[in-house]
Amino acid sequence: MKLPVLHAVLFDAYGTLFDVYSVGLLAEQLYPGQGEALATAWRDKQIEYTRLVSMADPGGRRYRPFWELTRDALRYSSRRLGLSLTAEREERLMNQYRHLSAYPENREVLQALKARGVPTGILSNGDPAMLEIAVRSAGLQGLLEAVVSVEPLRCFKPDPRVYALGLQTLQRQRPELTARQVLFVSGNGWDAVGATWFGFTTFWLNRLGLPAEELGVRPTREGRNLHEVLALLGGEGARA
Ligand code: LAC
Repeated sequence: MKLPVLHAVLFDAYGTLFDVYSVGLLAEQLYPGQGEALATAWRDKQIEYTRLVSMADPGGRRYRPFWELTRDALRYSSRRLGLSLTAEREERLMNQYRHLSAYPENREVLQALKARGVPTGILSNGDPAMLEIAVRSAGLQGLLEAVVSVEPLRCFKPDPRVYALGLQTLQRQRPELTARQVLFVSGNGWDAVGATWFGFTTFWLNRLGLPAEELGVRPTREGRNLHEVLALLGGEGARA
């Protein structure tokens, strides 16, 4: 499919700019031989909980911030794997989550987009406090026009209201902008699918080389490295 002309880029945060599996290193120190299993179970449970609270009440009464769901998911996954999670270990792992490693090419790609005048933002399930620390620890402040959290909506991706909020935020400065003119970048296959359903042009950053989701829908493009975003935007910079 021919790409539409793209005027802005929205990035998912966790699993796209920030490496959610980097907690596995500390987990491995704490629980030798089980670090990777814990990191994977933790992430899966965290996302499952976001869906559970969103689906249980679309009005948002079951909503709890991503930070709290992340802690609950850690507690569940440790129990599931039979690991003893002392209060001290829990704090260490949560603190590591607060300061997740950022992928090394993030800064360079965001700087290049900024230099070309392409507006960029984050659109994430994370709550504002978490996102602020993650952006600051990764040295990305000043490189993003907007950091948008689901918090005011009290629901999580892939609820279409979340993707709509990302678009509306960019439209404040550019009322003519359409969803197709926005490139939504996610390392999470399911998030790329949700954004495609919403109407964004999408790039699935398939860092792990996973199979594409079934469901009869494909992200607009797929790649292994964030640098590929620059090629999708073309060489001439922003056309806004
Ligand atoms: C986020 C989730 C998908 O950052 O990790 O929105």
